[in-house]
Amino acid sequence: MCGIVAYIGQKQAFPILIKGLYRLEYRGYDSAGIALLNNNLKVYKTKGKVSDLENHIINQNINGNIGIAHTRWATHGEPNDLNAHPHLSPSGNIAMIHNGIIENYSALKEELINRGYEFRSETDTEVLIHLIEDIQINEKVPLDEALRIALTQVVGAYALVLIANDDPDKLILAKKGSPLVVGIGDGEFFAASDASPIVEYTRDVVYLEDEEIAIIPRHGDLKLSNIKNEIKTPYLQKLEMQLNEIEKSGYPHFMLKEIFEQPRSIKDSMRGRLNARQGIVNLGGIVEYEQKIVNAKRIIIVACGTSWHAGLVGEYIFEELARVPVEVEYASEFRYRNPIINENDVVIAISQSGETADTLAAIELAKSKGATIIGICNVVGSSIARVTHAGSYTHAGPEIGVASTKAFTAQVTLLALMALHIANHKGSLSKREFRRLTFELEAIPKKVEQTLNSNKLIKEISEKFKDARNFLYLGRGINFPVALEGALKLKEISYIHAEGYPAAEMKHGPIALIDEEMPVVVIATNKGTYEKVVSNIQEVKARKGVIIAIVTEGDKEVQQIADYTIEIPETDTIYVPLLATIPLQLLSYHIATLRGCNVDQPRNLAKSVTVE
Ligand code: G6P
Repeated sequence: MCGIVAYIGQKQAFPILIKGLYRLEYRGYDSAGIALLNNNLKVYKTKGKVSDLENHIINQNINGNIGIAHTRWATHGEPNDLNAHPHLSPSGNIAMIHNGIIENYSALKEELINRGYEFRSETDTEVLIHLIEDIQINEKVPLDEALRIALTQVVGAYALVLIANDDPDKLILAKKGSPLVVGIGDGEFFAASDASPIVEYTRDVVYLEDEEIAIIPRHGDLKLSNIKNEIKTPYLQKLEMQLNEIEKSGYPHFMLKEIFEQPRSIKDSMRGRLNARQGIVNLGGIVEYEQKIVNAKRIIIVACGTSWHAGLVGEYIFEELARVPVEVEYASEFRYRNPIINENDVVIAISQSGETADTLAAIELAKSKGATIIGICNVVGSSIARVTHAGSYTHAGPEIGVASTKAFTAQVTLLALMALHIANHKGSLSKREFRRLTFELEAIPKKVEQTLNSNKLIKEISEKFKDARNFLYLGRGINFPVALEGALKLKEISYIHAEGYPAAEMKHGPIALIDEEMPVVVIATNKGTYEKVVSNIQEVKARKGVIIAIVTEGDKEVQQIADYTIEIPETDTIYVPLLATIPLQLLSYHIATLRGCNVDQPRNLAKSVTVE
């Protein structure tokens, strides 16, 4: 939700800021803007993407060694030029970029209006910058102090950067709820929503903590304090991210690159954790809480979006192997109920970004009731990774495509590792079964590679369905969440309406929709329910529906009745989602590109949802 980037140093700020915005565009892309300081403050902003901003700026003066830039995902106020960031203070002296939401903005705005202030935009951000300048003038305090006082009046989330015309040698930053990282270079500083705009210039970073305020001077050191006015010591960390991880490396889209990275990303999520020959599953990040998980009376999984689908797969795997009841909750629903949780419960929070606001709130709620919280996150150092008691990173590498692909398979891999580990400790799985399943998991990356060989066939199938208006996805058991995920991928990036359903439930409603216009994707691999799914396929065919079936290699029966079949290698049922999801990712990718959609930046979506 909005990407922010800032620079102060000796170089020209503009190229660094624009490049940074492109790297952060996954966070939002409905308007973009930039403010540069060079004797005076210049602000350029426009509706649209970062490329629109670049076009907008042609022939303008873009000199300056200090600047801030923003790419927006609209919350308050429609995406237009006026609502785009940076926002200016009433006098025009201060420019600010902001990621987050000021929840009490309307009360603050009313007060400011009563005092004679006028607003140019509909944003909560403009309210905050007005408030800051109001305090600065009335209380005759420096800008950083005015910011601090203003933040004590604010309810909500923010990552923000300010620059001022009359104090041109510093950046002022603050963070609560939304991420903000400072890069420390040689005589220069960077700040951004994540490390991707920074990694090219320096590996030394400081992640700001909630309620921290940073002053970054052009010459000298970063000064850190908090809104209680306490001095803080910056904790310097080294970035591990590689530059090629955040570039397309010859692929036309990040999404395709990330789909094809899965043999490696799944392997990376198992690296150092699984050794089938020695019969070892080892998850260092949860060692301290292992016994707590083994003794848990139940496990509650909280997540959103694709991560929630991974949670549903995890439910099957945990119940099957570790014989512990599992509930999977949408974090956004969980947080607004009065859930019954106690200290015997273990909550697993799954999040690619580690920043999803609803998941964070669900964690806080469960924590306050005494539950043990285990995180499964991809982004190292993210907020969720920091607030959980323990956890494991998925190590899938940066995921830039807005539609999640490799993060999903890495999450499922991690859940499988956790379930195997706990089952082994608990003794709910025989040694023989444990060994067999570890060998099978180790073989998955190779099988994913084989599955990717169907890309050409899937592209051909996609040609036939690119103009479909609806899709139905069916699966049973552990493949039901795969059906949900397949449908979500398609609607996210191609804007075709799609629904995922448990195959047997089709007769209770969706069957009414079936006609020759309705493509039905069926995952027909499960041994236990294979015959039942074959019957569901027959029911669709009897009503002239068109079947695209995902089948196990060598399958004969479904091949005969389905219109199109895509084979995946044989594996144990609990690992089928790791393979069956791949053709569905490719199907939505090809359909979306054939329809001319921007798959990496689908409309209205953002990768990191830091608002409720
Ligand atoms: C957004 C993204 C999805 C993601 C969901 C949850 O909607 O577009 O791809 O699954 O947020 O995000 P998280 O980072 O918590 O996994």
